[in-house]
Amino acid sequence: PWRKEWVNPSQFEEKGNGGEELGEVLARRAYEVWVSEIMLQQTRVSTVIPYFNTWISKWPTIQDLALASHDDVLSAWKGLGYYSRATRLHEGAKAMVSQTSSKSTCPIPSTADALQQFPGIGRYTAGAVSSIAFGVAEPVLDGNVVRVLSRQLGIYADGKDKKVNDKLWEVADQLVKHVSQFPEVQKSAVPGQWNQALMELGSTVCTPRPKCGECPIRRTCRAKRGEKGDGKEEVVDI
Ligand code: ADE
Repeated sequence: PWRKEWVNPSQFEEKGNGGEELGEVLARRAYEVWVSEIMLQQTRVSTVIPYFNTWISKWPTIQDLALASHDDVLSAWKGLGYYSRATRLHEGAKAMVSQTSSKSTCPIPSTADALQQFPGIGRYTAGAVSSIAFGVAEPVLDGNVVRVLSRQLGIYADGKDKKVNDKLWEVADQLVKHVSQFPEVQKSAVPGQWNQALMELGSTVCTPRPKCGECPIRRTCRAKRGEKGDGKEEVVDI
């Protein structure tokens, strides 16, 4: 289900020159996306960077991580907090490697559904790995994306509420599937780029106190216009 043209071509230029099989290149990329997304879940980017670099030097591939001792994994996580993240990453790596058929060069599945079968991989991580590493049109929804989509669409509701959250996942899903039909129109219409652009917009511009003057999508933003939803969807007023 992955499409080569939807995957950042630079990853092939950077890493694909050593005679590696395509599956190995994709596995490396997927592993790096997975590790970084787990590290970033409760920790800021500037803190994560040195931990990520050390981690990748120590265990460059998912196979290396699967062979590591749990004590070593925990000690590499020391200082990042929320240690269950490290444990589940390790468990997930061991499970994926042990389930890989000898014919396959990529132990990490490309679809969000298959990824979610493994320990510690929820909908967000599955969507991130599937879209960023494999170019599959799967959505991501984190707190930042909740804010961007809610404001853009005028959904004046609590994004943590189950019904609202489900609706936003559905919207994010429709959006990424829609834009990725037209990758030739704009580079950002590639699933991984699109998803990361939404997260980035939410963390830098569409912040809790938004910088609407700098926002590239302010013209279509319902919250900016002070409009509410169109009345057709279930919205909860704030
Ligand atoms: N926050 C967490 N993961 C991210 C990503 N891949 N892109 C932008 N912001 C993020």
